[in-house]
Amino acid sequence: MKHWPLWDRAVRTIHWYFPVAITFMWWSGEEGLYEWHSWVGYSLIVAVTTRVLWGFVGSPSARFSSFIARPTTVLAYVRGRPFTGEGHNPMGGWATVALLLAILLQGVSGLFSSDDVMFEGPLMYWGGEWSGFFAEWHEINWLLLQVLVVMHLLALTYHQLYRKEPLLGAMWWGKTANRFSLSKPKTTSLALAIALVIAGLLYLLITLAPQAPSYY
Ligand code: HEM
Ligand code: HEM
Repeated sequence: MKHWPLWDRAVRTIHWYFPVAITFMWWSGEEGLYEWHSWVGYSLIVAVTTRVLWGFVGSPSARFSSFIARPTTVLAYVRGRPFTGEGHNPMGGWATVALLLAILLQGVSGLFSSDDVMFEGPLMYWGGEWSGFFAEWHEINWLLLQVLVVMHLLALTYHQLYRKEPLLGAMWWGKTANRFSLSKPKTTSLALAIALVIAGLLYLLITLAPQAPSYY
């Protein structure tokens, strides 16, 4: 039987974009490089939304339905029941949902935020009085995202080094000798088409949003 990649090209490209782009967002947010913060932020919104939609129409192992486990299954796994599936284990599945959601909320709250001085998210005037709330959320959610990433790295270290499960190799190469899929992945061009449509919709949203009111 053929061994297909467990993580298709779309999942891997989007995944490795996260640490690079999120580190950049941290630096640009702190340094006040607002133009760059916006552009890379838009690209992250497109990447994470594409991954979420890929979770419904993408390759079998990328689908939420293949890795979102019932609470009882998660509990049994935590208590030591071995995991025999292909992709994310029951805990990893929920960690994936949490990480994707946190990145999405970070991006969307940024669109409506303002620092009250120089930097306005493009949808700030749609947010109206809520803009302050979104800016606060952008700050709090950033803490949450950092906590999730640290937990992600700790969990990976545990699996990779202590339990000797080659998670890293599969996320880099797509598959390893003992981590692969038995189902054929979906074509990368479908993911690219989804990303293009989302980018177009985001562009429309940003250009349609009201500008700063003129007081003159
Ligand atoms: C999804 C990825 C994003 C990450 C990880 C991120 C991260 C950050 C960080 C770390 C800060 C500095 C927080 C602080 O010290 O107060 C910041 C500030 C800010 N970001 Fe983002 N951001 C993201 C997306 C966006 C987007 C898409 C926009 C809008 C185009 C945006 C708009 C802003 C604004 C307006 C501030 C200043 C808020 C303030 O000073 O209260 N961000 N962001
Ligand atoms: C900002 C940093 C990071 C974020 C937001 C992040 C997010 C994620 C997400 C959402 C997944 C699920 C993949 C999917 O189904 O689409 C994942 C899986 C994975 N990540 Fe990360 N990641 C980050 C950094 C890293 C780093 C630095 C490494 C390696 C040193 C890494 C290694 C992995 C591996 C090996 C998996 C697969 C886990 C499994 O087999 O179940 N990640 N990550």
